[in-house]
Amino acid sequence: MPQNIDSILQENRLFPPTTDFAKSATIDESKLQALYQQAEDDHEGFWASLARDELNWDKPFSTTLNSHNAPHYRWFEDGELNVSYNCIDRHLADKADKTAIIFEGEQGDTRHITYAELHRDTCRFANALKAQGVETGDRVVIYMPMVPEAVIAMQACARIGAIHSVVFGGFSAEALKNRIDDASAKVLITADGGHRGGKIVELKAAADKALENCGESLQKVIVLKRTQHDIPMKAGRDIWWSDAIADVNDKCTPVSVNAEHPLFLLYTSGSTGKPKGIQHSSAGYLLGTIMTMKWVFDHRPDDIFWCTADVGWITGHSYVAYGPLAVGGTIMIYEGAPTVPDTGRFWKLCEDHKITVFYTAPTAIRALMKSGDEVPNKYDLSSIRLLGTVGEPINPEAWMWYHEVIGKARCPIVDTWWQTETGANMISPIPGVTATKPGSCTRALPGMALDVVDDEGNSITTPDKGGLLVIRKPWPSMLRGIWGDDARYVETYWGMFDNRFYVAGDSARRDQDGYFWIMGRIDDVLNVSGHRLGTMEVESALVAHPAVVEAAVVGRPDEIKGETIFAYVVLKGERPADGIDDALTLELRNWVGEQIGAIAKPGNIRYADNLPKTRSGKIMRRLLRTIASGEEITSDTSTLENEAILLQLQGKE
Ligand code: WT7
Repeated sequence: MPQNIDSILQENRLFPPTTDFAKSATIDESKLQALYQQAEDDHEGFWASLARDELNWDKPFSTTLNSHNAPHYRWFEDGELNVSYNCIDRHLADKADKTAIIFEGEQGDTRHITYAELHRDTCRFANALKAQGVETGDRVVIYMPMVPEAVIAMQACARIGAIHSVVFGGFSAEALKNRIDDASAKVLITADGGHRGGKIVELKAAADKALENCGESLQKVIVLKRTQHDIPMKAGRDIWWSDAIADVNDKCTPVSVNAEHPLFLLYTSGSTGKPKGIQHSSAGYLLGTIMTMKWVFDHRPDDIFWCTADVGWITGHSYVAYGPLAVGGTIMIYEGAPTVPDTGRFWKLCEDHKITVFYTAPTAIRALMKSGDEVPNKYDLSSIRLLGTVGEPINPEAWMWYHEVIGKARCPIVDTWWQTETGANMISPIPGVTATKPGSCTRALPGMALDVVDDEGNSITTPDKGGLLVIRKPWPSMLRGIWGDDARYVETYWGMFDNRFYVAGDSARRDQDGYFWIMGRIDDVLNVSGHRLGTMEVESALVAHPAVVEAAVVGRPDEIKGETIFAYVVLKGERPADGIDDALTLELRNWVGEQIGAIAKPGNIRYADNLPKTRSGKIMRRLLRTIASGEEITSDTSTLENEAILLQLQGKE
């Protein structure tokens, strides 16, 4: 994290919501207290009543929570509903002509899609999926640029009860292949490409490569024409999106699925080399996104809501494709990079489309902050009323810039802590009520039982004492498991405290006001530009290269990205002079890019004869982290098997 822990410990500036904001906010102090009280008095009853009020059920549920097989919790399990119906159809009576999606491509092309049009397009595409053989429960992989069709594809899957697995367009062919195989997906939806950074992202080329050695499951590829450049189509397997929807009906009856029916899988990194397919439910997941749209984003009918995340991440699921539509909102989708044609693009989009709620990541804020105040100051940002941040702890300096330069000290900032696994925001300010502190995500939301505990699982009550972030009670939008690996689900999230509570994998502390401060991961997971990457994943990619014998990967603090990847590599051949070999480094970076994706490319690679190990052979990553960040080693290293290697690793030999 690019921040000095001492300066954060002293951070005590308090920013209460402005009177203007507080006056008009949907949740005020007394409503919030009532919500906390209800949740406290009757956790299940609290969620049951919200689920009845906020979701349209085809068959009402009679049991709220089934904990018999904990930690395999089931919410509203005998109820039935359809997520796409809840996001689209139920708004048609009074919002058919309301804009659901405002789209702008990187090259400036724009589209407005009403709820009626979204309904028609979703129905058509759902019918097209059925025509291609997709049935309820089948897995469909979506590998798309950030265009409305990505959301339409997700909604169409939900409509017929197919389980989507969106793979971020920046992931490589190899990563795509692994995800297709792990889920035994039947259909892949992709595009001829997307526009990003002034270039075409060759999605179809990557898809073709992935499919060369995929398993048997995959039968069809549906390809959207986005860039219109020439790409090969494989007869019998590939079909254009436009052809797939050409002869289908405009109506598609939504399939009633069980509340617990899997809505989607989303792969995320953990502490082994293999990403986990996080499985989410239908009803509970949607309820989490709806409640947080209301509580955290203070949703109002005339909002233009822009969450800048790609649909390849959980943020793009919960706050692009599902939550804002479920509440009948208008979302903004932007296809391209924030720097095209210049670093004012985000602010220009805010001005042009009159964005009211803007939700992005600290890494983007820091990068845009670097380009100077004069860039945002050129644009009219007066439509913005609320700002949000997510993905990693935000350093107070970036928070203050966001507050002053973008929010003009008018807009509350909601710093939302949550995870792929939690499905929706868990810790966040309530914008009309909570006085915020730069760098703190403040308090747990109603019905979310967050706590900080010590190694024995006892709640830590001493202010500012760090511990493990846990969730004491199940919540509706929680993950339901890891696809195909139940043992890993139980072990990763519940094993530490005998299934009693969910272990988030973050360390945190609470200050004297009870505010949460997230301190970082406790496992071997890095946070690069707000995206989770497992050190083991990068290490396995490196050792798969013929020249590499062993590799250790650690995070190095970075001013903009939060962390960058520093890799220590032992080669089969001789160690290059001074541990540096630019040509090989370039090759290995590209290699990792091919194995995982560009975000996983190490920023630095240093070659060594060996790695620092304990006598039992465990690599001491802690020492490597210290070295990578350029700090002096102060701990005792005499227990190392090969203490002398430290000098070489530090470049002192
Ligand atoms: C991890 C989850 C949830 C969407 C984006 C990332 C870190 C997330 C915050 C925040 C401090 C945060 C945590 C968490 N994180 N939001 N507001 N403050 N840290 O999703 O890839 O599942 O990563 O991101 O370390 O465990 P993800």
